[in-house]
Amino acid sequence: MDRYAVVGNPIAHSRSPQIHEAFARATGQAMTYERLLAPMGEFPQTVERFAREGGKGCNVTVPFKLEALALAHSASERARAAGAANTLKRDGDGWYADNTDGAGIVRDLTANLDVRLAGRDVLVLGAGGAARGILLPMFGQDVRSLVISNRTAEKADALAAAFASRGPISAVRPGELGGRAFDVVINATSAGLKGDTEWRWPTGLFRPGAFAYDMIYGDGSTMFIRWARAQGVGRSADGIGMLIEQAAESFDLWRGVRPATAPVFAILRPAS
Ligand code: ATR
Repeated sequence: MDRYAVVGNPIAHSRSPQIHEAFARATGQAMTYERLLAPMGEFPQTVERFAREGGKGCNVTVPFKLEALALAHSASERARAAGAANTLKRDGDGWYADNTDGAGIVRDLTANLDVRLAGRDVLVLGAGGAARGILLPMFGQDVRSLVISNRTAEKADALAAAFASRGPISAVRPGELGGRAFDVVINATSAGLKGDTEWRWPTGLFRPGAFAYDMIYGDGSTMFIRWARAQGVGRSADGIGMLIEQAAESFDLWRGVRPATAPVFAILRPAS
């Protein structure tokens, strides 16, 4: 049986095995999918050992996404633009790297949540790896404008400069966002994950009918979503759909079969 894994540190919390096992069952693919804890500093050794033991591919999560791209002998354009890889596929003696995160969020927004991106003004909060990973796929949807804003403004400036030739991007300081409003606001910060409870962004960023999307997932209600709802935003989603859709995209790359994702939504978040 072909072996696949999700590699990270920590890894015990990962939902990916549940998702890929459901995909494999539904599509009749003979494969296994496991969690692989890579000790810090031993990511390359861990994935090489996995390949020697029959590993055909892996998903890569925190904190190894940059290293995953660096160790691959070839990579997709979207992985190179993201500067990081979340998917590795064995290719001869080496690895091919891809990044399916951006395709995952785009598919969740457009196909599952019925959010139009073409012609829309999009605000991305945050300028770390999560933000970087979604920019190219967002441009692929012909957004009208993409504004990026970050607590540390210089990082947003640098990201906007790096992607200036790829699409309509600009960086705006959080303090200068007042008076501007957007159709889609995406939280790509890690705020709330490390126990911080304060969300310090100006209010009034949402146009009527705007959509609030949090790349973090947490039972549908995250700090960012609560903040958006308190301002009257009626349409929002957390990142569970992005997680499922990026997995489907990885599965397709490995197996050449695109699994249906709706049944997996029902498994991960049963209607209460
Ligand atoms: P990731 O790969 O998840 O993007 P990262 O590269 O560490 O992780 O980036 C974290 C992002 O969340 C950054 O944009 C960070 O802002 P700074 O660059 O100013 O550090 C942002 N972030 C984290 N905690 C935050 C908070 N409490 N409020 C606002 N932004 C926050």
